[in-house]
Amino acid sequence: MKRIGVFTSGGDSPGMNACIRAVVRTAIYNGVEVIGINRGYNGIVDNDFIELKSHSVANILQKGGTILKSARSKSFFTEEGRKSAFENISQAGIEGIIAIGGDGTFTGAHIFNQEYNIPFIGIPGTIDNDLYGTDETIGYDTALNTVVDCVDKIRDTASSHNRLFFVEVMGKDAGFIALRSGIGVGAEAILVPETKTYINKLIAKLEAGRRKSKTSGIVIVAEGDNAGGAYEIARKVKEKFNFYDTRVSVLGHLQRGGKPSARDRVLASQLGFSAVENLIAGETNKMVGMENNKVVLTPFEKAIKYNKELNPNLLKLVEVLSI
Ligand code: F6P
Repeated sequence: MKRIGVFTSGGDSPGMNACIRAVVRTAIYNGVEVIGINRGYNGIVDNDFIELKSHSVANILQKGGTILKSARSKSFFTEEGRKSAFENISQAGIEGIIAIGGDGTFTGAHIFNQEYNIPFIGIPGTIDNDLYGTDETIGYDTALNTVVDCVDKIRDTASSHNRLFFVEVMGKDAGFIALRSGIGVGAEAILVPETKTYINKLIAKLEAGRRKSKTSGIVIVAEGDNAGGAYEIARKVKEKFNFYDTRVSVLGHLQRGGKPSARDRVLASQLGFSAVENLIAGETNKMVGMENNKVVLTPFEKAIKYNKELNPNLLKLVEVLSI
């Protein structure tokens, strides 16, 4: 294999640039040229390619976002889009592709692999941490730290005004960001999609806190929670329990930016290195991940479809520590 392509796709995440850097440097170290593909799958369909040299990825390790930009492609999920993509890849002499992204990214790679014989290795780059086959995804640790920093600030004003804040965090249909950030900020309650939310149970918890003279509080709400998100939950709680003045804060895309943490930079570097090593060794249709500090390969189908469980011990911890 003498030339490979690399792109970032789906929601961007801090650490993607560190990963691109590791992919480029590892490939060049092994005598393999690298073509950067801009804007995810849209760039493959639009033939938006750029040669990447070692100096192309200098001084990006510490930067959030992705120099190759990202997108959620519609054209690639059509047969004619994939046909143009294949023609462009062949024209450019690209013999294998590294895809840095989330479940949507690997779904596309899997479909493409079935139609065209272009080897793909995926790297889990998303703040959601919702991919099976890796303990953490690139960007998750940085997003956790961002949420903790933001909620510490909210806690200051909540305690100054005796307010109850409902803080909504990202994570799509998963509660990984909510669970660990909630523990990190000492939230009174953490609402995640993986466990059904009962408003009466939440109110009972808040009422118990009031009886213990808690004058303010934080409830972390995962955006995918079944009770409808922070604004809806705050409204339902206020209907039956209005002891606290309540406010809502949706952290949104703050969680996607920022300088990657050391942990994410190291994870991105390790997975970028391993992805290239495995691609040029002939592996395909698999995602590299880190489990118990070991690099593992997981077939795309499993990485996308298998359910990654929340740690039940952490859910219990929340119950105990928030009394
Ligand atoms: O997948 C990452 C993510 O940030 C999710 O947590 C969130 O639901 C989604 O992307 C937001 O998508 P967009 O950036 O397209 O609004």
